[in-house]
Parts: sequence; structure tokens; C-alpha cells
Amino acid sequence: MMSLLTGRRILLGVTGGIAAYKAVYLTREIVRAGGEVRVLMSAAAKKFVAPLTFSTLTGHPVLDEMFPDPAPVDPVHLLPGQWGDIFVIAPATADFIGKVANGLANDIPSAAAMAFRGPILLAPAMNPRMWNNSAVQDNVARLRLRGLHFIGPERGDMGGVHEQAGIGRMSEPAAIFDRIEELLYPDKCWMNRRVVVTAGATCEPFDPVRFISNRSSGKMGDAVARQARLMGAEVFLIRTNSAIGEPPSGVEIIKVDTAAEMADAVKALFPTADLLIMVAAVADWRAKTASAGKIKKHTGILTLELEPTEDILLWAGKNRQEQVIVGFALETDDHIVNARRKLEDKNVDIIALNDPTSADSVFGGDSIRLTILKTYCEPLELPAMSKREAAARLLSEAYGYLK
Ligand code: CTP
Repeated sequence: MMSLLTGRRILLGVTGGIAAYKAVYLTREIVRAGGEVRVLMSAAAKKFVAPLTFSTLTGHPVLDEMFPDPAPVDPVHLLPGQWGDIFVIAPATADFIGKVANGLANDIPSAAAMAFRGPILLAPAMNPRMWNNSAVQDNVARLRLRGLHFIGPERGDMGGVHEQAGIGRMSEPAAIFDRIEELLYPDKCWMNRRVVVTAGATCEPFDPVRFISNRSSGKMGDAVARQARLMGAEVFLIRTNSAIGEPPSGVEIIKVDTAAEMADAVKALFPTADLLIMVAAVADWRAKTASAGKIKKHTGILTLELEPTEDILLWAGKNRQEQVIVGFALETDDHIVNARRKLEDKNVDIIALNDPTSADSVFGGDSIRLTILKTYCEPLELPAMSKREAAARLLSEAYGYLK
């Protein structure tokens, strides 16, 4: 599948800390996604990971000497700063941060940071006591002011066996990868906007261990949340615990199980939102009374009395002010007629119609074929595409309704 990093050039600086081993995974992920990586290492970084590891993964020699002997024709220390769409330093040590904040450039990574003209992303990693040192905090504040980007550090276990947990752990390679994609994504039309997305299938219990649910995986909702983040939005993802896989990074996650919990979460966030996208497959019914104890098998034939859940989209349509609202419709018959009725009945701007019986749109898959319905417009039938691409199309359509 095409990644946003396909064909992009990532300059990666590795400085000396145990988290340098995670830079290996980051490199592998970027290369797998079709990105080109060139690695710069400080002398201390080479104590933790061999340059050969990176040169093997990237297919390019690692730059680690400022003044190699014999000297090459081009001055080596100036080359790295002139290559790449983004410069990522992972891990970034306290020493490296201090050098860049103070305009020092006495090794390859710090010289590159001084010469580089594109976005710079630092993933700090250090002992929590060092991270909390006011010298480090001052340096970080100065770099933020100059427009350098940071990811992490996170709270968690440290790399050393005897180190105490605290804030200082480098962000995981997957999160750094996501942040690189975000920084390189060109269209930031949702900047300074709040977007609320729901994802996954709700579960409605009828006893402490059993529930009624449906086959939604949550992948499309995750893709919409992730894409809204790439496009600059502040994203709140109301996600059911049944949704599969890791949720996207960089978005605020609100975990829910039932339709009632999802309704509460939407109602709390909706008043300050600019956009609500209800991707979740909300159960339409729940048990009228859930049994407090596990229902025993010897009950024989079991009849469940079900009552409707609250229609969250309908509530939003009734209580909207300036918010843009997008709903999904999952239809197996009379697709367009039914979906258009939802557009009007629920007072929403866009309905994204999904036919799960089509071979390109199966539950849990990575691709989807959507038809976009808007009032007064002919249905827009999109071809099958990745859920991420479909999310981008939907967010661009929704943008047209922003006040
Ligand atoms: N939805 C909702 N609250 C519910 C049920 C659905 O907010 N209790 C939202 C879904 O998230 C989706 C849209 O309504 O965005 C359409 O859901 P769908 O199940 O296809 O339609 P329904 O309105 O439930 O109608 P029907 O079951 O008759 O098709």
C-alpha cells in the first residue's frame, strides 16, 4: 500500500543513549514504507549501535566523522544539512539538545541541525532526573520557540536495568513515524479546529459476560481520526474497547463500551467541536434489563427483550449550531434511497454510504468503497481506495461546510 512516506527523504540523526536501538526499528519502518533514509551518528551513539546496522538497512553509508582522513572533495559536515525533507533526531540526548540550543556544532548531527532548512523533529531520551533539570528544560523551551518540533519523552521504564521509571523514555518508533508523516503532510486545512470522531462497534451487555454487538472493526474510524490529525486538527477519538489494533497516536482517546457511554462522550464534546464524524457502528438495540448474574444454560430457550438505544447522530443534528456533521450509513438494500433519507431525517451535512456486501468494502478490510451523499447534490461514487485515502476525501468534502 502507498504510504505517505513513499519517496520522501528522511535525514536521521542518532545520538548517544540506549534508545539508539529503537532508531533501528524506526529506520526499518521508514524504509519499508518506501522512504529513503540517511543516518548521521554521534561518537557516543556508536557505543550503543554499530553504524553497519544502519548502513545495511538504508543501503547508504552512515556519516559519523566530521573530518575524515583522507578528506573527501566535498566538506562532509555540510552535506547532511542539505539533504532531506525532514531531519529527525532519535534519540536526542541532553547534550545534543544543549548544543543545538546554544548554537554549537562540533559533531555531525549538531552541524547538520545548524545547516538544515526543513522541519526538525527531536525525540528526546534521557534519565528522568536529567530531563527535569532546568538547564535541559530551558534549552527545550528555546528550541520550541525557534520552531523545532518535539515528540515525547514519555513516562515509563528506562532502558537501564537499575534506573527508576519516570519521564524520559523515548517515544516508540511507531509514534515517531506517525509524527513524521504528520509534519510532512501538506494540507493543514483543519488546523485550529476540533474534530470529534467515533469508531468501533458498541457492545450492549445482557448479562455480566455476554453482549450484543456487530462486525465493525473500527478501522475506518481510526483512519478518519488519524487523517484529521494529519490535516492539522485537534482530534478526539471516541473509540469502543472492541475496536481492533492500536489506536492512532497524537489524538485524544476516549474509551467506551456501550451506546449510552458513547452518547455521553459525544454530548460532552459536541458543543465545542467544529466537526463530528460518526463512523462508529452504534448498536440500535440493547437489552431492556441486563441480568445482574450470568444467565444459566438450563434456562433453555432464552427470549431477550430489546429496547432501542439513543440515536446519537439524530441528537447531534437536533442540537447543532455551527458544527459540521458527517454520518455513515451501512445499507444492504435500496442504498441511495435509504442513505438519502438519513441525510434529511438526521439533519446532517454528509452521509458516507458503505455497502459491506461489495467485495472492496468488507468488514475489517483496509479498503473501502464509499458513496458520498450531500443535500442537493448527485451521489458521488468513489472508487475503492484505502481507508486512509477515503478519510482524506471525506475530510476535504466536510471542509466545504465549515462556517
Ligand atoms: N448512529 C448513531 N446512533 C445510533 C445508531 C446509529 O449515532 N444509535 C449513527 C451511526 O454512527 C452512523 C449513522 O447513525 O453514522 C447511520 O447508522 P445506521 O446504523 O446505518 O443507520 P440507522 O440510523 O441505525 O438506521 P437503520 O438501522 O434503519 O439502517
